[in-house]
Amino acid sequence: KKERTLAMVKPDALSRLGDILETIHAANLIVIKAKMTTLTLYGQTESEASDFYMEHQSKPFFSNLVQFMSSGPVVAMELMGDEAIGAWRRLLGPTDSATARQEAQGSVRARFGTDGTQNAGHGSDSVASAAREVEFFFPSTAGHGPSNTA
Ligand code: CMP
Repeated sequence: KKERTLAMVKPDALSRLGDILETIHAANLIVIKAKMTTLTLYGQTESEASDFYMEHQSKPFFSNLVQFMSSGPVVAMELMGDEAIGAWRRLLGPTDSATARQEAQGSVRARFGTDGTQNAGHGSDSVASAAREVEFFFPSTAGHGPSNTA
């Protein structure tokens, strides 16, 4: 089944963007949109990153996550391909980079991540979150963007 998903290269892995694109290409996933941006930090936990990760706002790691995600540029990509959501999450490996190095050698997080928070990349976990996360980075507002010529 053809799916789309939101992939993000986090600030700690931006310098490995080339390696990550090679991984995506080798897995037959197609990059249909891409954007480099820095998530704006307005306060300790008020930021574009806190909007993106709102389902984690009550977690103990939320503040660290928001700080980290706002610490430098990220690259957001819309990927498309067969079972793209699960395929990209398998390529990422387990959330914790240390676990990834033990259980998923060769995964993106094993290769480029640091720990449980600084883990190189993000992938949507469902069709619903993929739709929300793609819309977050690539809004489809009518009247804006190069595809809207009317
Ligand atoms: P991601 O897949 O982007 O989704 C939520 C992020 O929160 C996750 O990657 C990590 O960066 C971070 N995270 C998740 N669980 C933990 C944890 N137990 N401790 C610290 N950070 C975490």
